[in-house]
Amino acid sequence: MDKENAIIIGSDHAAFGLKEKIKDLLLSKGFQVEDAGTDNEDSVNYVDYGKKVATAVSTGRFSRGILLCGTGLGMSMVANRFPKVRAALCSDVFSARMSRVHNDANILVMGGRIIGDALAFELVLTWLASGFEGGRHLDRIKSIDL
Ligand code: RB5
Repeated sequence: MDKENAIIIGSDHAAFGLKEKIKDLLLSKGFQVEDAGTDNEDSVNYVDYGKKVATAVSTGRFSRGILLCGTGLGMSMVANRFPKVRAALCSDVFSARMSRVHNDANILVMGGRIIGDALAFELVLTWLASGFEGGRHLDRIKSIDL
């Protein structure tokens, strides 16, 4: 697996449909995608899926992940407890870009009940196309982990 070209994605039931659409988008752009679930719209606990994706990024198995739930709040709370995970909950394009440029975010989180599909696709593509600026921002992100 080429880690730079691979994304792990997970959602709960509230954003299952959006996850499937984002998977299609990523595959159409040539990314390899590992789907951590959920697999349908039956009610589940978002924490289980957040932990799967956050573990994969925290351990370095994947360099980037995407997490989706109804608001994105639960997923970002879960993911940001993991060492080396910088999960960014985004609902605007500027934040999606800056989460990479200044924060080197390695998980993009979105709320499927907050944003529409077209905006979500735009956020994903912007996030993936943006790079970390480093410099003073590297010292800052290094000081995040306790
Ligand atoms: C599920 O109803 C909802 O609580 C979940 O998707 C998420 O929004 C939690 O933060």
